Amino acid sequence: MKVYHISAECYPVAKVGGLGDVVGALPKYQNRLGIDASVIMPWYDCAFVNERCFISIFTGEIKIGTQIYDYHISKERDNVLGFSLYLVKIPGLLDRKDVYGYSDESIQFIAFQHALLHWLSASQPEPILLHCHDHHSGLIPFFIDYGEEFKSLRGMPTVGTVHNGQYQGWMGWDQAVLMPAFDWAHRGLLDWNGVINPLAALIKCCWAYTTVSEGYLEELFGKANGLEALFASESQKSHGIVNGIDSEVWHPMKDALIKFAFDHTNLEGKRKNKMTFCKQHGLTYRLPLFSFIGRLVHEKGADLLPAFIEAAIKAFPDQFNMMILGSGDAETESKLIALSERFAKNVVVTIGYDESLSHRIYASSDFLLMPSRVEPCGLNQLYAMQYGTMPIVRKTGGLADTVVDISQDGYGISFENSTVSEMLEAMAQAVALYTRKNLLNQKRKLMMEQDFSWESSADKYKSLYQSLWADWEKLSK
Ligand code: ADP
Ligand code: GLC
Repeated sequence: MKVYHISAECYPVAKVGGLGDVVGALPKYQNRLGIDASVIMPWYDCAFVNERCFISIFTGEIKIGTQIYDYHISKERDNVLGFSLYLVKIPGLLDRKDVYGYSDESIQFIAFQHALLHWLSASQPEPILLHCHDHHSGLIPFFIDYGEEFKSLRGMPTVGTVHNGQYQGWMGWDQAVLMPAFDWAHRGLLDWNGVINPLAALIKCCWAYTTVSEGYLEELFGKANGLEALFASESQKSHGIVNGIDSEVWHPMKDALIKFAFDHTNLEGKRKNKMTFCKQHGLTYRLPLFSFIGRLVHEKGADLLPAFIEAAIKAFPDQFNMMILGSGDAETESKLIALSERFAKNVVVTIGYDESLSHRIYASSDFLLMPSRVEPCGLNQLYAMQYGTMPIVRKTGGLADTVVDISQDGYGISFENSTVSEMLEAMAQAVALYTRKNLLNQKRKLMMEQDFSWESSADKYKSLYQSLWADWEKLSK
């Protein structure tokens, strides 16, 4: 069974958030289950690509509007990731430093999809399954069925995974001229409310779609940034499959990025990591250390952090420390920096992206705060639990699915609404728990014993692929 994952991100090549983590791990675990899984992503001017050996395997030409572009497919030579990695480079168009944030992003991803389909249709004699992640590869199932250049791929099974339905890749119909030629009679499949909507096209045209937790799937039927009716009407082909943890990257016994190793049988290393971390950042070791890691955006509830910190300092004077790592909304960033200057003894803010610091934060913190308004799965809480750090989460999507509240004999603290007052209530529970060291350690051990590994979810994807293969075989007889 040959499967290509198609994605804008893949850890450790290029990662902006959880999409990168998932695409960098799932294929590895699938290969161990006997699936031949690979990843196709855009070429980025980044350390991984520049330091590794890539072999050029195919060169072709595509037309975007009136312009002809060369494209190059290269393959990572040494299979260091546990799966084959293919990069699509288009000089002058798909050869950038960053993954997102360019004003011509829609052209960038149209070109990516065009080039990879062109390559696969020219070079792929055997049947394949294409697994498309988010809107960046959302046009693929449509083009397999209706693209004029890709007739050899007709009828290939496709899976679409929705990591985040907030982002849909909308573009005006004027962009259609930049796409590969397609059967115009079927253009309605690209459309949602008068614009081209790649996420909607993915849901309409894929054979099956998955979401990254069961809870999020339910949520999408009622709240999906305008696509509720679509998700509901296509629900017969939907599956909620929760993400896992790559325990080769995220495990406190094996993690080279943290100073002291530990596991659920001996938490001494966690204590030592916290001590070192607090010293380095000028924080007080004896106080509970709360942290937040992530994109400083509305969806994550990051805008609530400044008011929360002020209120918490009033409510629990000199009873906690807070560490924040992230970047995003400029106003939130500057409010947080101002707070870290005002309360330098208790609040540390690092604006930016720092993979190694994030590991040290998970390993050293007592509590990780996630007041997300939307959280399709969330990996932060899974990493936190793996490192014995209690998640404090808003009950939504994957957070509700993976964090069991301490009131239910669980190992996390959860609250209903993303508001400062509910965050404070949750914090009060945490501050109280922190004084009960034995109970807290019991909870830490309990969360570290939970199985959030990829194995069982990779198996669910395998069953899904198998059922699609069976359908494909029936159809192709
Ligand atoms: P999302 O993909 O919505 O941002 P997830 O919880 O799925 O959220 O995944 C976030 C991933 O990105 C985790 O691996 C987290 O540790 C990482 N991350 C987020 N922000 C930063 C940052 N500023 N520095 C380092 N890692 C970060
Ligand atoms: C998205 C979601 C996040 C999820 C990640 C990986 O970025 O916002 O909740 O964990 O994708 O699936």
